[in-house]
Order: sequence, then C-alpha cells, then structure tokens
Amino acid sequence: TASRKIPVLGLGTWKACQGEVTEAVKVAIDSGYRHFDCAYFYHNENEVGEGIHSKIQDGTVTREDLFIVSKLWCTYHTKSLVKTACKKSLNALKLDYLDLYLIHWPMGFKSTSPNKFLFFWFSQPGVKDLPLDRNGMVIPSNTDFLDTWEAMEDLVIAGLVKDIGVSNFNQEQLERLLNKPGLRFKPITNQVECHPYLNQKDLIDFCQSRNVSVTAYRPLGGSCEGVDMMEDPVIQRIAMKHNKSSAQIMIRFQIQRDVIVIPKSVTPEWIKENIQVFDFELTEEDMKAMVSLDRNLRLATFPITEDHKDYPFSIEY
Ligand SMILES: NC(=O)c1ccc[n+]([C@@H]2O[C@H](COP(=O)([O-])OP(=O)(O)OC[C@H]3O[C@@H](n4cnc5c(N)ncnc54)[C@H](OP(=O)(O)O)[C@@H]3O)[C@@H](O)[C@H]2O)c1
Ligand SMILES: *[C@@H]1O[C@H](CO)[C@@H](O)[C@H](O)[C@H]1NC(C)=O
Ligand SMILES: *[C@@H]1O[C@H](CO)[C@@H](O)[C@H](O)[C@H]1NC(C)=O
Repeated sequence: TASRKIPVLGLGTWKACQGEVTEAVKVAIDSGYRHFDCAYFYHNENEVGEGIHSKIQDGTVTREDLFIVSKLWCTYHTKSLVKTACKKSLNALKLDYLDLYLIHWPMGFKSTSPNKFLFFWFSQPGVKDLPLDRNGMVIPSNTDFLDTWEAMEDLVIAGLVKDIGVSNFNQEQLERLLNKPGLRFKPITNQVECHPYLNQKDLIDFCQSRNVSVTAYRPLGGSCEGVDMMEDPVIQRIAMKHNKSSAQIMIRFQIQRDVIVIPKSVTPEWIKENIQVFDFELTEEDMKAMVSLDRNLRLATFPITEDHKDYPFSIEY
C-alpha cells in the first residue's frame, strides 16, 4: 500500500461542537497541523470536512499533505456493516479515502436498524450508537474483532483506506490480533488513553516491541471532571524552566517517547500553542520526573460496557 508514517502530532476533534470545529480545523491547518483525529461517534465529521475542504480549496494544502483518521463505531462490527460505516465517514468528511481507519473499541454492540415506529427515537443522536438494556448497560453483539478485522482489511484492498489500526485494545487483544492466522494487514497503531497520570509504559513497551505505534488520546487529561494536570507542580516546574506551558510539556513528553499525540482544542491560541513543541527538548531528568507522576488514573473507563466479553480494562494493561 501507499501507506505513510503517521504525523507525530494531530488535532483531536472529540466534543468539538458544531459551529466551532470547522474554524478550529482551519486554524490548525494554518498553524501547521496535517493530522486530524476524527470518528463517526463524534457526530461532527461534516463540520471537520468543511474545514478540511476550505483549506484545500484555498490552496493552503492538498489532500495528499493531510493525514485523516476516522474510526469504526461499535454498532458496525458485523462484517457486512464495516464498509457502510466507512462510507458514512467518507461522505461526511467529503473524502474518497482515509489515511487510517481504526476499530474504535474491541467491543461490538448490537446494531439497531430503525423501524418506522421507532424512527423518531432512533434518530436522536447517540441513541442508536449506544443500545442499552433495562439496567443501562450496553447490549453486546456476538461479533469477534478478528472477523471485523477481515472486513477492515477489505477496505484497504478496496482503496477506501490506506492503513488500518485499533483503539482501546489491551495487550492480550492486540497480541491475539497480531497472531491471527492469515493476517493480511497489521494494525499500524493502537490509540489509547495516555497522559502523565496514566503513562501506559507497559502497553507502550509491548506495542513498540511489535512495531505497532502508540497514539496517545486525552494527552492533557481532557476537559473538566476533576483532574487538572495543568496545575501539577512537577509539570509546572518543568514548564517554567523551559518557558513553556504545562500543555506543551505534556505533548512534548509523548513525542520524546515516540508516541503520537492528538491534543484537542477549539481555542485558536491553544491550537497554535500545542504545536509549538519542536523548538525545545526535555532533559533525561525531566522525562524521568514526568514518568514518575504515573498514578494509573484511567479517565475513559466506559462503565456501561464493563460486562462486555471484550471489555479491555479488566486486566493490568
Ligand atoms: N479512541 C478513543 O476512544 C478516544 C477517546 C477520547 C479521545 N480521543 C481522541 O483524542 C483527542 C484528545 O483527547 P480529549 O479531547 O479527550 O482531551 P485532551 O486533548 O487531553 O484535552 C482537551 C481539553 O483541553 C483543553 N486544552 C487544549 N489545549 C490546551 C492548552 N494549551 N491549554 C489549556 N487547555 C487546553 C481543551 O479546551 P478547548 O477545546 O475548549 O479549547 C479541551 O477542553 C480527542 O479529541 C479525540 O480525537 C479518542
Ligand atoms: C515497522 O513498521 C514500519 C512502518 O510501518 C515499517 O516500515 C518497517 O519495515 C517495520 N519493521 C519491522 C521490523 O517490521
Ligand atoms: C517565553 O515565551 C514567551 C511566549 O512563548 C515569549 O514571548 C518570551 O519571549 C519567552 N521568554 C524568554 C525569556 O525566552
């Protein structure tokens, strides 16, 4: 395939709302971003696509300059639905290929096709993406991600995607995929939660030993919900020393351990700030201090899926 290396820094787009993400994408392209992390589940691929297209149209970039990632949602794990899902993302983004398509989670959910009585209910955003039982737990499908992977491989053959990968896979799940008999294409990355408080050293060592890159999501700890790593005194001390922000230190930390990083922002000054990370270097001591902050704090635990047979977070890593 004509696969390329994943650019080490990309723009995250989760929770970037309608009316702000198109502008964020344009500012990002003008600031030098070329990698965009999208997903069907984020319900904003249309707006992301508008931003991408306006910068291609005005001649700032070409399609080939960009590296666009999207993800297969859990209700589309049935082999026959994978191409449909991919085409939905392609249509929304107004693209004819993706650079990388990921299985968003190892877990398949029951797919719900709207009938005419339930159409209104199912047309509410989010409802059909998360089929729930009476206890509010996700209803699984009986799919196996090894079968889903075969349909992902077909997308490469069909030219709809250049490369494929996974997200939220634990070490055992990734190992099982890499050992799949008749594997046609390897996953090129495993995109997982990764930041100073959940540094994922063991999973990263495993992935890198198998030549699977790691992409760090939620690299700044995400928005609200308790933890504020920006205020961590160790990170602030390192930031002060380098005349950089805490966010820049957390981003640079990932790059120096060969981890791809996708901070999200819709704020123009932060979008620009987050890519100003190639003009300084953390020392060995700084890196050690960052690693020592680990407290195994997982923020994206997805509790409504805890009973799923493929729930990824029941083992150590
Ligand atoms: N594969 C998966 O299951 C999965 C799960 C979660 C996330 N992701 C991907 O990873 C991306 C990043 O993760 P995330 O969005 O959860 O969290 P994040 O990137 O760690 O944090 C985003 C938050 O930090 C703020 N921020 C960004 N730059 C800043 C700066 N320089 N100074 C201060 N605050 C700053 C943003 O504010 P504003 O936006 O208000 O500017 C936003 O509230 C997502 O957008 C998504 O693309 C993937
Ligand atoms: C590792 O992956 C890269 C990029 O996908 C590839 O170019 C390289 O040949 C691989 N190396 C090994 C030892 O598999
Ligand atoms: C510190 O960084 C700011 C903003 O990036 C810059 O304007 C300023 O000149 C820097 N100060 C020093 C001492 O380098």
